[in-house]
Amino acid sequence: MAGMSALVVGSGGREHALCLGLARSESIAEIHCAPGNAGTAEIATNHPFSEVSDLIHLAFQLDVDFVVVGPEAPLCDGLADKLGNMGIPCFGPVAALARLEGSKLHAKQVMKANNVPTAAFHVLGKDSDVEAALDDFAGNPWVVKRDVLAGGKGVVVTSDRNEARDFIKDSIESDGQVLLEEFLPGDEASMLVVMDGSGFVCLPASQDHKREFEGDKGRNTGGMGAYAPAPVYTDEVKDKTIERIVEPMHKALSSRRVPYRGVLYVGLMIDENNDPYVVEFNVRFGDPECQITMPLIASDLGDLLNSAARDKLADYDIKFHDKHALTVVLAAENYPGSVEKGRPIENVPGATSDSWVNHAGTITHEGQLLSNGGRVLACTAIADNLGDAASKAYGLIGQIELSGSHYRTDIGHKAL
Ligand code: AMP
Ligand code: GLY
Repeated sequence: MAGMSALVVGSGGREHALCLGLARSESIAEIHCAPGNAGTAEIATNHPFSEVSDLIHLAFQLDVDFVVVGPEAPLCDGLADKLGNMGIPCFGPVAALARLEGSKLHAKQVMKANNVPTAAFHVLGKDSDVEAALDDFAGNPWVVKRDVLAGGKGVVVTSDRNEARDFIKDSIESDGQVLLEEFLPGDEASMLVVMDGSGFVCLPASQDHKREFEGDKGRNTGGMGAYAPAPVYTDEVKDKTIERIVEPMHKALSSRRVPYRGVLYVGLMIDENNDPYVVEFNVRFGDPECQITMPLIASDLGDLLNSAARDKLADYDIKFHDKHALTVVLAAENYPGSVEKGRPIENVPGATSDSWVNHAGTITHEGQLLSNGGRVLACTAIADNLGDAASKAYGLIGQIELSGSHYRTDIGHKAL
């Protein structure tokens, strides 16, 4: 289909990357974004909405061909269900399937029912024997996961028994129950699978850097940088992942009355035997993984996303660039803690054919670019090898001026 219009929901670096990919698509004539940021405003029409009811009305008013949902919250709140009821195709699953991200216990139960490899776990409530459960997984760090959407703050991995016990008790107090998981050693990778009722397409696997400081130290963040493809995801790991994880999940999710339409983010732990285990599912593109995955797609992104929203993925022949992509996040002072918005940003370099700046928490006020969130910009580059991609991305980020901002200097180092 040529000349389509798309509405992208969200306001981060991920949504800017989606808009850039759609802007490159011959199938797309018009892009809208809600609420968007200063970067999306350059290539799409921004609309100041983020409530589900407003988004439904907007999609109807604009009469878009399809909607692409970036973040998980509106999906968990039923945005795809409501668009579906109105006959508007949506890239992003209905609420019942978005629970794969919304409830970690639900995700565990689905994995168990479909024999998908994942860590062993206990569900603990107020009457559970917490000490016995801690004993069960002693000898390794304890992994405690809250069963709610917690914005990246719902997981504690610790070798301190007191810390594990306190987090368990606090979580039971606030949520009623909590998961205690067996620790999985290994290397992590993020695998994005675009799927619908008719088929699935695996995108290149990437590696995120979730901690705030070099050497994976400091607090957990939404992601400080990423690169793709990830060398830990070898052909052997890929074959095992598809056979043991992607195919059974697709079978389960596509056989439903309303199938899964969107992207399933599979957070993998790959052990020393090259066996993959699922650490988490997300029901959306990763951020910043999206920023480096979109530029590796050589096929028309609008056609891919629209096909998935309409159950037309079967036998989709996707093409990728044989390149490496890397992105480095520029974060505001004190991120991932609370940040001050509204600081001026200067010297943002212009895009070239192989390097550019993704906007995340940015806004323009009276012609001045201002910070508007924790992760402010992401500097992204694509090259024939990872080292060149890193040099180009770091060449961009070194030019930008934002008071108090920080970034990690070791993105991609593990693979270099
Ligand atoms: P999640 O929000 O479930 O992705 O967990 C956040 C991070 O905690 C992951 O990216 C892993 O680094 C770590 N993690 C989660 N579950 C486990 C596990 N079972 N074993 C080891 N590390 C884990
Ligand atoms: N970068 C990790 C995530 O999007 O969940």
